[in-house]
Amino acid sequence: MTRIFSGIQPSGRPTIGNYIGAMKQWVELQKDNSDSQLIFSIVNLHAITARQNPEELKERTLDMVAWLLAMGIDPTRSNTKIMVQSTVPAHSELAWILDNYTTIGELNRMTQFKDKSAGQKPEGLLVGIYNYPVLMAADILLYSTDIVPVGDDQMQHIELTRDIASRFNNLYGEVFVVPRGQIVQEGSRIMNLQDPTKKMSKSSDNQMSFVLLEDSAELIHKKLSKAVTDQYGEVRYDPDRQPAISNLIDIYRGFEGDLSIEAIEKRYVDIGYGQFKQDLAVLVIDKLSDLQNRYQSFRAGHEMLIRVVDEGKEYCQKIAEQKIEQVKQVVGLV
Ligand code: AMP
Ligand code: TRP
Repeated sequence: MTRIFSGIQPSGRPTIGNYIGAMKQWVELQKDNSDSQLIFSIVNLHAITARQNPEELKERTLDMVAWLLAMGIDPTRSNTKIMVQSTVPAHSELAWILDNYTTIGELNRMTQFKDKSAGQKPEGLLVGIYNYPVLMAADILLYSTDIVPVGDDQMQHIELTRDIASRFNNLYGEVFVVPRGQIVQEGSRIMNLQDPTKKMSKSSDNQMSFVLLEDSAELIHKKLSKAVTDQYGEVRYDPDRQPAISNLIDIYRGFEGDLSIEAIEKRYVDIGYGQFKQDLAVLVIDKLSDLQNRYQSFRAGHEMLIRVVDEGKEYCQKIAEQKIEQVKQVVGLV
């Protein structure tokens, strides 16, 4: 049985970047792997590495459960579960143990940490931000995960997870499965609409830089119409030379995978950016409106959402407890 695990932070509302790079892939994996174990975690312990309003954090955790259900993640299948990270204490417990098999040099090399801490004095940085990849390794290794479907920005963390797992196994025998990261071929890094050199991020201060899955039709139209383009005026896929329009093509393909890049380029020869952005907005609005309707109806079912979280906890606790016992045993923790 293949085991698949991934996570998303409830630190904001999901963007089309989360959707195209990660969540859509999760739903496809569920379709293709009827006998696999699939666990999708709302990683609230990762989210508190940035200050959160407690009430909002709780709400956003349930929002995220409702989005996953709306997309088609189906926890009524026996081996598919949605879990909230903090409900299974073994995640934190294993993270502490793995801290002792991870070096400061390795964590210093993490580009996400370098980005988040850029321009700040090390004395004032939170240890949680630094330690973040070790908790992520714990999430993955607890469930003997084979495949971790993520956006491109997480691949370095998965490489670190592989190194930690191998190091641990070399000392104590085959305790952990060494996992493999998996990214989508196109759209694994959807960029900021106002600055295509940066990743689109739900925690950005610039509201015009991202499209949220929950955005209204008017807002989606406004954001996509005002997205920056390149100086060349041609709808051509060339991420190095024309990063802005290439990003918009990735978004287009994220919602309409049947149309090839060549077909898009051909369709817009001599038509230009303006019309392309209008058509893109119509497409995104159309696809998201179905998803938003489903989201609204799942979100209204508070008790059902709590039940999904409780079932996820119960299922994951059993697996995680066995693994943490095995780890304690080999390390000599009585
Ligand atoms: P996060 O929002 O950081 O919790 O990310 C959840 C998942 O979405 C991870 O697999 C990320 O790699 C993925 N992701 C986040 N932002 C983007 C983006 N702009 N493009 C593609 N994937 C993304
Ligand atoms: N760090 C990931 C992100 O920000 C979220 C995450 C936490 C995760 N634990 C994970 C992803 C385990 C995959 C597997 O996107």
